[in-house]
Amino acid sequence: MSLKEKINLSKLPQHIAIIMDGNGRWAKQQGEQRIFGHENGVKSVREAVEACAELGVNYLTLYAFSTENWNRPQEEVIALMQLLVHTISAETATLNKNNIRLQAIGDLKSLPADCYNELQEAIEKTKDNTRTTLVLALSYSSRWELLNAVQQIAEKIQNKTLSPQNITENTINTHLCTAGMPEPELMIRTSGEHRISNFLLWQLAYAELYFTDKLWPDSN
Ligand code: FPP
Repeated sequence: MSLKEKINLSKLPQHIAIIMDGNGRWAKQQGEQRIFGHENGVKSVREAVEACAELGVNYLTLYAFSTENWNRPQEEVIALMQLLVHTISAETATLNKNNIRLQAIGDLKSLPADCYNELQEAIEKTKDNTRTTLVLALSYSSRWELLNAVQQIAEKIQNKTLSPQNITENTINTHLCTAGMPEPELMIRTSGEHRISNFLLWQLAYAELYFTDKLWPDSN
């Protein structure tokens, strides 16, 4: 029986979130620069998206660039941004062909203009697709997201459109970048690290966490 045949489709998570980790270590193992690891990581991204679409997972969220990643060496940040622009532009037609919608969460305005524009274009071109939603977390961190939500809620209290006693879990949910998305039931992290690293802290409250030693480029 193949792995795919063993999956109980009636118990499929609606939303899977992945921390794609280990690209740098994978590149080092090959005696290559870190960006070589990220380039090979794109193959695993493709496989993960295809698998979710084939199985019927509604949402797949990938941690592609954290707010902390801005502190990496400038040349790695530039190369990663170029890879993102190139990948998004090269894959939009395939996303459309497979009825996959692209969305993004994070401080998107902090992305370089070409990356931001490419992303918005791909989001617009795929917005009517209904099979699976691929969510890219870009310049994302959970503390940034929660801080933002608190500021928006505080403004509503200040201008009296909301009163403190009416704040519910749903108020928080609707002020997060993930508003309207189901919560992930499964979070996967590759590369042997057993941490959540500022990723979807509120949304992962009830998620099952799965850690694998495989490095991300080997995870296909
Ligand atoms: C973590 O590995 C990976 C990243 C910070 C970037 C992930 C990006 C991609 C796979 C490429 C493009 C993605 C999309 C969605 C188009 P690491 O560099 O932290 O590895 P290390 O821990 O071994 O150093």
